[in-house]
Amino acid sequence: MLAVLLLLAACVPGGAAAGPALSVPRRHPDLATPPTTKPPGLVPTPPQGWMSWNHFRCGTDPASPDAISLALINATAAGLVSGGFAAAGYTTLAVDDCWQARALDAATGAVAADPARFPGGLPALGAAIRGFGLRFGLYGDVGPTTCGGFPGNGGHFGEDAAAMAAAGVDFFKADGCNAAPADLPALYASLSAALASSGRLITLSCSWPAYLPDARAVRAARHSAHPLPPIPYRALASNCHLWRNWRDVDTDPASIASIASYWAFAAAHSPGFEAAPRPGAWHDPDELLVGEPAVPYAWQAAQFALWCAWGAPLFLSADVRGGGGWPGWPPGSRALALHAELIAVNQRGAGPARLLRVVGRAGAGSHHHPHALQAWARPLEGGAVAVVAAKLSGRGARQACVSVGQIVRTAGRVWGAALAAGGEGSANATVAAPAAATALCWRPVSLAPRARPVTAYASWTDETFFPHRATGRLCLGVPDAGAAAVVVGRPCG
Ligand code: GLA
Repeated sequence: MLAVLLLLAACVPGGAAAGPALSVPRRHPDLATPPTTKPPGLVPTPPQGWMSWNHFRCGTDPASPDAISLALINATAAGLVSGGFAAAGYTTLAVDDCWQARALDAATGAVAADPARFPGGLPALGAAIRGFGLRFGLYGDVGPTTCGGFPGNGGHFGEDAAAMAAAGVDFFKADGCNAAPADLPALYASLSAALASSGRLITLSCSWPAYLPDARAVRAARHSAHPLPPIPYRALASNCHLWRNWRDVDTDPASIASIASYWAFAAAHSPGFEAAPRPGAWHDPDELLVGEPAVPYAWQAAQFALWCAWGAPLFLSADVRGGGGWPGWPPGSRALALHAELIAVNQRGAGPARLLRVVGRAGAGSHHHPHALQAWARPLEGGAVAVVAAKLSGRGARQACVSVGQIVRTAGRVWGAALAAGGEGSANATVAAPAAATALCWRPVSLAPRARPVTAYASWTDETFFPHRATGRLCLGVPDAGAAAVVVGRPCG
């Protein structure tokens, strides 16, 4: 029965079929601790970079300036550097699907780059990216073909790992389209081992959990008392440095709401979800829409604030060509992507994010984002804590209030869980949870475009926050769909 469910749940990212009836196994077989195969020490903080998929998709006409090509990657690398993105940490330039030739390399048996769009093949692509001081990211699939129908890595992991190591690949996103979900644990473990013995340190991004049944079961579970089937977080963390959890992001606020809604649901119902992220092992909710003209700025800011609070990988995808002009970007988007305080919330966490509250529900017809208002806390270095509230629907609650004592206790529990789980999170060992008696002093983080006066910011988020000490309640008012409020509490001093 489980195998049937797993098969039905194949290719969730990008897919749209209705989910199968819910069946909840008692214990996932992969929850047993497998041997660690991934190289340790990589991505101690959530990786940042740029990824081609959401904006550029799968253009293959060599004459088009938007085709997946060496020319596009060169121009993007130049934009990442000249626009200040690289200096803000966005240093991994990841080429997603559709870079491949239709046939494997005859000499090596490895996946090869399309020669018309990538003259000089992978080595030239790697040299170009490294020439800008960036890290080289590439895409593949553990099955025989990728989601876009190009050759996958299935059957020749060793050959592909060798070719990628020779070309200087630093980051590999391994999709799971066209592989039987029941085979995913063995396939990802085998790929991880092949990369680990390639002679180069390569960060492995897995799409594994996005193809497991809880992605589909979540909708059914919403309407039932069943918990979600467990995701094998231990096996994931042993093999992968990050992993995609849920469906593909799309250039649409509803997509942000859908992902955030899943995150809140998983935090409440998916065993192990909240405690899983740690240095070298991150949940990945997919690319950022920051800079996409079709996405209202408030939604871009809400997505960025949530992704930062979650400690998620930060991969831009919008067009960054333009040498600092960003003519097509909405006002403020570049400042948002470079927002030092939010990036610090993302990069200087002391433990995973914790769901504080979900307030209200949207009305009928909004089943993809029923959580009208979410509030999350993330403990930060130095005993600080970030609280982010975001409103995902035009209906429902407009304010989230949480007792400050709960925030402090919540953060303390997360820290405790991270320490107890051990693993690579040794940096956590030096972090002490603030005592409940510690007074925290709160300060709002402005999400407004820097070019606008603060009064304009207040008019569209109506953010309020109080009180300033560790007793009482913290209330964040977020009246509009797509708006978010962020506050950071630090020990008063
Ligand atoms: C899947 C992934 C996307 C992207 C495409 C490429 O849908 O989830 O992120 O990599 O494949 O075909």
